[in-house]
Amino acid sequence: METEAGIMKAVKNRRSYYDYTKESTLADEELKALLRQALYHVPTAHNTQLTRIVLLLSGQHDLFWDMVLEAILEKNPGKEMKTSREKIAKFKNAYGTALFFNDQKTLRAAIEEMPAYKSQHETWAQHGSAMLQYVVWCLLEEAGMGASLQHYNPIVDERVYEGFGIDRDFKLIAQMPFGVTVDEPWNKTYIPISERFFVRE
Ligand SMILES: Cc1cc2nc3c(=O)[nH]c(=O)nc-3n(C[C@H](O)[C@H](O)[C@H](O)COP(=O)(O)O)c2cc1C
Repeated sequence: METEAGIMKAVKNRRSYYDYTKESTLADEELKALLRQALYHVPTAHNTQLTRIVLLLSGQHDLFWDMVLEAILEKNPGKEMKTSREKIAKFKNAYGTALFFNDQKTLRAAIEEMPAYKSQHETWAQHGSAMLQYVVWCLLEEAGMGASLQHYNPIVDERVYEGFGIDRDFKLIAQMPFGVTVDEPWNKTYIPISERFFVRE
């Protein structure tokens, strides 16, 4: 039995989009409220609430993608980097970008408080961020926009700290450009679900 109920519609329809317009289906205040609510409600291990979002809009969004391109070019001196230039130009053409961070101060405090789980805390921190990223991705989908998940950390980190005045204890985990999209998602293939889902009862 397939269900279209509630959250499943956004789960099914969420895809990676790479070609955006500088349009949003939400007013900026609605967008901010959506991300605040996601941050507020998405769980973190031991309820540390170490996840952080920096929402980049208008000129700050453009600046971020300029920083990414600069960082890529710096890492590849003398190379034209045509594909990267084209890709980054598309991300820059999105409406905004959500930057996902994890606060290392909170992570360190959690390790101090629960040293028995020392080796697990960083993994759980990543899980917490991933859950948040996914919820934001689905919420954007539900709002009629498309997004993709990017990882230009760590090459862009220094520019982000400097350029946006971000706390250096915030570790950049992922970047999500979003906006009304103009592309069709790629033709995703699926391995049989029977190879991935098992029941013992
Ligand atoms: C943990 C994770 C990391 C990803 N990192 C990137 C990335 O750095 N760049 C990118 O373009 N897509 C990235 N993706 C997108 C995946 O390639 C994409 O979700 C997958 O191929 C399935 O396609 P779909 O999103 O259209 O369903 C990432 C996805 C996940 C779940």
